Amino acid sequence: MGVDQFIVTGQAQAIILGIETSCDETAAAIVVRDQSGRGTIRSNVVRSQLDEHAAFGGVVPELAARAHVEWLDHIIAQAVEEAGIALEDVDAIAATAGPGLIGGVLVGLTTAKALAASLGKALIAVNHLEGHALTARLTDGVAFPYLMLLVSGGHSQFVLVRGVGHYERWGGTIDDALGEAFDKVAKLLSLGHPGGPAVERIAREGDAKRFKFPRPLLREQRLDFSFSGLKTAVRLQAEALAPLTDKDVADIAASFQAAVTEIVATRSRQALERFQVELPGALPQLVVAGGVAANRAIAVALETVAAETGARLVVPPIALCTDNGAMVAWAGAERLALGDRDGLDAVARPRWPLDTPDMRIADHAAP
Ligand code: KG4
Ligand code: ZN
Repeated sequence: MGVDQFIVTGQAQAIILGIETSCDETAAAIVVRDQSGRGTIRSNVVRSQLDEHAAFGGVVPELAARAHVEWLDHIIAQAVEEAGIALEDVDAIAATAGPGLIGGVLVGLTTAKALAASLGKALIAVNHLEGHALTARLTDGVAFPYLMLLVSGGHSQFVLVRGVGHYERWGGTIDDALGEAFDKVAKLLSLGHPGGPAVERIAREGDAKRFKFPRPLLREQRLDFSFSGLKTAVRLQAEALAPLTDKDVADIAASFQAAVTEIVATRSRQALERFQVELPGALPQLVVAGGVAANRAIAVALETVAAETGARLVVPPIALCTDNGAMVAWAGAERLALGDRDGLDAVARPRWPLDTPDMRIADHAAP
């Protein structure tokens, strides 16, 4: 089915290839958006580069870019094969064009351009954050408007999602991202990388009340986060106790997790209260995205906040909260349905805030 027919009717089914290479996952997926606007994931292949970066305690941009070059073609071929289609069957190719590590973004976007040009298909340059923001519509059919809490290794922010291309950033971190804070605490406790799952595991055996770590900014009303002071407090405590016993490590991990859980829960409550004030009559909905969504302590706290504020909480399956190709394909599908497509001159952007004025949607009426 041709893309032009799709754009004219705005209704027809579309098959989208999504490509994600902005950090340390090489990912490709095939997603189908049907006439009614419902999405189906036909394949979702993710190759994590954890092993390549493990020895360095974090993602090394140059190594990441090289691994994307080496693997992307294979990952795309696998995604197409698992979907049971041929590459020629896709209507559009969507690739993350930023924000992210520029070397990796260039690999994915350039590959997408080459495929789009050679196959004569539409190209959609996707904002990675838009991929996270729209995932809950793919997984749970969530209707606009809703609030997104994105908490990953690179981002921590609240975004009001009014519609495709209509985003308002309500707050973010002024220093470290939440996942980054977990990773740094894990590093100083010698728990390995990535740190989030390790901290959560050790924290289960610890006493969360032993240390009262600071909750930066929490007394202020703004919906921002700050985690670097908390991380410093954890480091000073660890240095004061050194050498650390297993119990010290577990207690520090548990006390740190208790602090960030309270911060995230309090901010989410405030954000939902603002939602109710600014969008009276709309069902308050909180959608969580990013790798930190895997944390049970934080998820349970958010469930409580949702219950107390009468909000609907949506946490997509964790494989779709972390970086993947399906979210990029779906964002591309939503864009395509609105008639958006990009030229081969689409640029890769290391920085690309979600609320950047978007020329593509200039003609779409605000919802
Ligand atoms: O979304 P993601 O896979 O990658 C990007 O950052 O884009 O998120 C990874 C981050 C890492 O910082 C990792 O430590 C954190 O999510 N994370 C967790 C947990 N699982 C992953 N943080 C806390 N608790 C977890 N269970
Ligand atoms: Zn991400």
